[in-house]
Amino acid sequence: MKILVAGGAGYIGTHTCVELIQAKYDVVVVDNLSNSKYDAVKRVEKITNTKIKFYQADCCDYKAMEEIFIEEKFDGIIHFAGLKCVPESVKVPLSYYNNNINSTLVLLELARKYNVRNFVFSSSATVYGNPKTLPLIEDCPLSATNPYGRTKLFIEYILEDFYNCNKDFNIAILRYFNPIGAHPSGLIGEDPNGIPNNLVPYVTQVAINKLPYLKVNGNDYPTKDGTGIRDYIHVCDLARGHVLALNKLSTNCGLVIYNLGTGLGYSVLEIIEAFNKVVGHPIPYKIVERRPGDIAACYADPTKAYKEIGFKAIYNLDDMARDAWNWQKNNPNGYNQ
Ligand SMILES: NC(=O)c1ccc[n+]([C@@H]2O[C@H](COP(=O)([O-])OP(=O)(O)OC[C@H]3O[C@@H](n4cnc5c(N)ncnc54)[C@H](O)[C@@H]3O)[C@@H](O)[C@H]2O)c1
Repeated sequence: MKILVAGGAGYIGTHTCVELIQAKYDVVVVDNLSNSKYDAVKRVEKITNTKIKFYQADCCDYKAMEEIFIEEKFDGIIHFAGLKCVPESVKVPLSYYNNNINSTLVLLELARKYNVRNFVFSSSATVYGNPKTLPLIEDCPLSATNPYGRTKLFIEYILEDFYNCNKDFNIAILRYFNPIGAHPSGLIGEDPNGIPNNLVPYVTQVAINKLPYLKVNGNDYPTKDGTGIRDYIHVCDLARGHVLALNKLSTNCGLVIYNLGTGLGYSVLEIIEAFNKVVGHPIPYKIVERRPGDIAACYADPTKAYKEIGFKAIYNLDDMARDAWNWQKNNPNGYNQ
């Protein structure tokens, strides 16, 4: 089966390409490289010992994408091609609406025209807004607290509307919790531009002395140690979830929605502790004020994904910390060697 991996040069996309290739899928990557480097794709080739067909193109560009659809004749699409930085989305909401929503519309329009009936979408736990109850099940009420989250929520609605009049399609909406870590080879990993927005690349950049200390945003949340709690999942586990989702789509399942998380919540201080162990020295941090819009705790109930697609995370927090650190120390400047 030939899969279009839109946004496949990015953090989750590269790890998913590895899993897809190892599961014998034929992979074609399309990426505009707005938040990634072509070198990441070359490294996936190295890990898998497989040549990957790559197009530098924008998924919002209907004409360019149509040429690729005609040339490649895909069997399925995984849509990672989105902007993902919450604070940036508050500053430039139109760019987020424009990129995330239009890329989806173009891909769906072409999927319909060229009869590519399997579609996997990267959604996010952010669609649960500020949860009233935990752990989160897929039926929990949905809301969004920022423009990024609203793009994910709107796209979920778009996919439902699309499916309602295209019932021969199979669509998997995957709600990711917090992917961290890197491929155990140390060849691919998260490579943020500038100061990282996510906790783990921030921690590893402090550990390697690129940043002076970690800012812990708030220690007065109603949690076990006052810091925020999240469901961290190893990016390789998350990537494997996409292969399982594609397998499910091949059973003609219609539209399905799954949480991809571990079901375990770790606090910021527990994450720091895990990194202290693998780095071998304490990571300096300071408690600062809460970040507007942050919630106290968020973790998944992953039972549905386990029951329906056999998804279960196999890596634990120590593995995640080890692999994130391995990536950071082998690639202090990310893909910019
Ligand atoms: N990383 C997370 O914590 C997280 C959590 C939940 C959901 N997600 C979603 O998963 C997806 C992948 O996330 P990631 O962490 O790998 O991000 P990433 O930025 O590393 O990867 C996204 C890739 O898409 C590309 N891209 C963006 N817009 C494009 C367009 N219009 N055309 C072609 N390529 C485009 C970027 O260049 C990048 O390579 C995103 O949709 C993101 O919103 C990520």
